Amino acid sequence: MGRKLLVSGNWKMNYTHLEAITALQALDVRLNRSLLAKVDVSIHPPFTALRSVQTVVEADDIPVMLGAQNCHFEDKGAYTGEVSPSMLAKLGVQLVIVGHSERRTYFHETDDDISRKLSAVLRNKMIPMLCVGESLAEREEGATEAKLESQLRGALAGIDRKSLSDLVVAYEPIWAIGTGRAAYPDDAEAACRHLRSVLSQLLGSELAEQIRLLYGGSVDPDNTAELVSNEDVDGVLVGGASLDPEKFAAIIKQAASTG
Ligand code: PGA
Repeated sequence: MGRKLLVSGNWKMNYTHLEAITALQALDVRLNRSLLAKVDVSIHPPFTALRSVQTVVEADDIPVMLGAQNCHFEDKGAYTGEVSPSMLAKLGVQLVIVGHSERRTYFHETDDDISRKLSAVLRNKMIPMLCVGESLAEREEGATEAKLESQLRGALAGIDRKSLSDLVVAYEPIWAIGTGRAAYPDDAEAACRHLRSVLSQLLGSELAEQIRLLYGGSVDPDNTAELVSNEDVDGVLVGGASLDPEKFAAIIKQAASTG
């Protein structure tokens, strides 16, 4: 496909700002700069660590993009406890995860909320990373494709297609997240191929080809190469293994040598 792969680390609710700096420095010493020219990398620390991570990335010229895990859909206002996309943009955040299954499940985010967040991220000139994925019950019922299609259509409803060329969509089957049971590479490819065909119906094939599709769910250094060697898998979204600088650097290396 000729696209540059993307490896993203979602740190979830882990690391104080001090621990985040240590983790980033431990990752940096393990990164090979020439390999990094072949792959894009983003890290998504918790909100409280973004400023510290951004300072270290800039000071040490570390070739990773700064990402966030969520944001509100308004730029400001009376929303106690929330963080706005304009605040993230001002911090140098480039990518924002929207619609992660943990947010859908534990914080009851709907497709409509996710669509509003996606448009807020775009309005603030950042890249949305939209997560979609089926539950185990849905997979067993043969409802995977229908679920992916409805999440995609729900999130992209009403969004100007011209703004979507940098969109990233992560296929994250819920049953594979944090379980140590990654999808088989063929299943990841089939799901991503389906996502691309729905994107093609919604946005046209030219745009659908530009959108990066990631696989996420129990990615580790041993399964990365096989996952990203699939035609429609343009990278990986890594949770648990991104907290271990050794493993995360090994995943980046695998992706860079395969892509
Ligand atoms: P995991 O999480 O790699 O720990 O399975 C993936 C994710 O939730 O993005």
